[in-house]
Amino acid sequence: MIELLFLAFACLASTEQPSAPSPIAGPLRDLPWGQLNFLHTTDTHGWHGGHLQEPSFSADWGDYISFAKHMHDKADADGSDILLVDTGDRIEGNGLYDGSHPKGRYTYDIVKEQAIDLICIGNHELYESNSSINEFYQTVPNFKDSYLASNVDIYNPKSDVFEPLAPRFKKFTTKNQGIRILAFGFLFDFAGNANNTKVQLVEETIKEEWFQDVLRDRDTDLIVVFGHVGLRMPEFQLLFKTIRSVQWDTPIQFFGGHTHVRDYVTYDKKSAGIESGRYMETLGFMSISGLGIGKKSVDTAAKLSFNRRYIDNNLFSMYHHSNTNSSTFPTEHGKNVSSQISSARKDLHLDETRGCAPRDFWVNRAPFPDKSSIFSLLQDRILPETVAKSSRVTKEGKKAVAITNTGAIRFDIFAGPFTRDTEFLVSPFTSGLKYIPDVKYSSAKRVLELLNNEGPVLNSISTELGMRAWSLVPPEQISREQVVVGEDVADGSWGRRLSMHNHQEFLGQGDKTELTPGYTTSDDLGDDGDDTVHSPINFYEVPNCIQAAVGFDIAETGEGEPEAVDLVYNEFIEPWLLLALKYLGEKFEKGDADVYLKKTFTDIMTEWVQENWACEK
Ligand SMILES: *[C@@H]1O[C@H](CO)[C@@H](O)[C@H](O)[C@H]1NC(C)=O
Ligand SMILES: *[C@@H]1O[C@H](CO)[C@@H](O)[C@H](O)[C@H]1NC(C)=O
Ligand SMILES: *[C@@H]1O[C@H](CO)[C@@H](O)[C@H](O)[C@H]1NC(C)=O
Ligand SMILES: *[C@@H]1O[C@H](CO)[C@@H](O)[C@H](O)[C@H]1NC(C)=O
Repeated sequence: MIELLFLAFACLASTEQPSAPSPIAGPLRDLPWGQLNFLHTTDTHGWHGGHLQEPSFSADWGDYISFAKHMHDKADADGSDILLVDTGDRIEGNGLYDGSHPKGRYTYDIVKEQAIDLICIGNHELYESNSSINEFYQTVPNFKDSYLASNVDIYNPKSDVFEPLAPRFKKFTTKNQGIRILAFGFLFDFAGNANNTKVQLVEETIKEEWFQDVLRDRDTDLIVVFGHVGLRMPEFQLLFKTIRSVQWDTPIQFFGGHTHVRDYVTYDKKSAGIESGRYMETLGFMSISGLGIGKKSVDTAAKLSFNRRYIDNNLFSMYHHSNTNSSTFPTEHGKNVSSQISSARKDLHLDETRGCAPRDFWVNRAPFPDKSSIFSLLQDRILPETVAKSSRVTKEGKKAVAITNTGAIRFDIFAGPFTRDTEFLVSPFTSGLKYIPDVKYSSAKRVLELLNNEGPVLNSISTELGMRAWSLVPPEQISREQVVVGEDVADGSWGRRLSMHNHQEFLGQGDKTELTPGYTTSDDLGDDGDDTVHSPINFYEVPNCIQAAVGFDIAETGEGEPEAVDLVYNEFIEPWLLLALKYLGEKFEKGDADVYLKKTFTDIMTEWVQENWACEK
């Protein structure tokens, strides 16, 4: 049984960012420390400064550095081992990355301060050629012995050829226990990358000679597959089956990412996987005990066990798990990195206020439509009011239907100051609004329906594009939609659990007698994975896309309907939209589309906030 500790509300002096809120004391579950331990981050998306509006996630990358030092000391003291893992999407989604010119001017030097043992790329590093080039020239050398790229190649401008972004695999032995590990670092079958990188399908990679050769290495005590891949996505399932068919008995540990959830999967008796959420909200803790080392494997195999804990990223949790307090916790190195972050935030003016939000607006915590849904705000106000100002409407009197995908919005808006930082948290994307002029309204009005109805048409569109329809929605929804169902692997654990409650912390008041709302994760090991005991928060699914009409009432049918409209859309969905039109019998090509507004989505939202959400003085 795990003991629930209810700590007194200690004085929590902060080493985190100066404006970060103090964490709230709550009942904690201890870390299930083992023979081999891991700390895992994923999908940090630039949030290395922590969450400045949410006490549960208010620790920063510097605090994580101090925490890791204490965990290393613990391992050295009891002869166990600890390794750090990061599974990609370190960029895009926070002012600390997106707010500089060029983007990421500060991020790479901050991230490299943590000693990560296994690190790989995510899809976000590959959308633009300049960000994958940054990986190649900065992150890969910064993590020279740790970065793996089992299925990603990059065009090297110096040698004029495509080459592996980093080594395909790594064999190493742990410091204290001497555990022999074989590790691979994967990316899911991503097709939206710029043309300077190549992502090899996992089903092709497993046929490569290097993979088949190294898989037959018998001098391995543990295989680690880490990747920017959801734990329940087919790519990991295929890797599991392939490795198991060759190494029938070797324990396998997976580390996943991309779908932004806390999750743990049991693949078979000797294989498990953990995924550790998003945005620096979670430090994933994983432990394995009973690993056989070398010849001893036969004796100890029976005792093999896996365990996990999802740590809320705040100082209250970190002090507890490292048995420290505000004076013994921070290390000089950690403090240095925290001040490096706050001086970067200052340089970037991230606390500068654009306006004040009158209430909270949620991505997945409110139904759609609803007055507290961020998508209703977008559909009813921001999109139509922005489009109505374009010269196509004001000068030429054109009517318009504007469509955007819900995945274009990344984070909630909290009541109160909307800062330069908030801009990038909510909408970091540089794509703008394009349009196809004078589309027959009878066709235009059916586009949304095609893009939202999961059915044969959307299926053929995504097959043709080589992209899955979930690339349109917020990533948090993927794990709910794309679970591999019905495949019985070993104990039939695949796809067993759809209803993970994976939501972020509510801004509650510290009250020792009541649980604060937050993550209440349910995974293959049960519902005791979160380190902090919270009360649950609702999760509402949202459609792939939403739309707004300008110049007419979309609810009106018959007489009031326009003949033709400008079909305005978020650039990101262009390939989807063109194919949807094709299915409706309209032949438009990329060349028929034009720029509607010379602004990024970030600018559109910021301007709207500046004009509509004045702060009361
Ligand atoms: C990449 O190019 C885009 C468009 O020119 C620019 O906005 C962005 O800052 C660049 N990103 C990086 C990482 O250099
Ligand atoms: C990528 O596409 C651009 C523009 O079409 C082209 O100039 C460039 O050579 C391509 N890069 C590679 C590596 O193929
Ligand atoms: C922290 O712990 C140390 C050693 O146990 C103790 O001496 C010190 O007074 C504590 N500091 C605080 C702020 O509680
Ligand atoms: C921390 O920063 C100080 C001042 O810049 C420097 O002298 C010191 O070496 C740094 N220490 C570590 C551990 O990074």
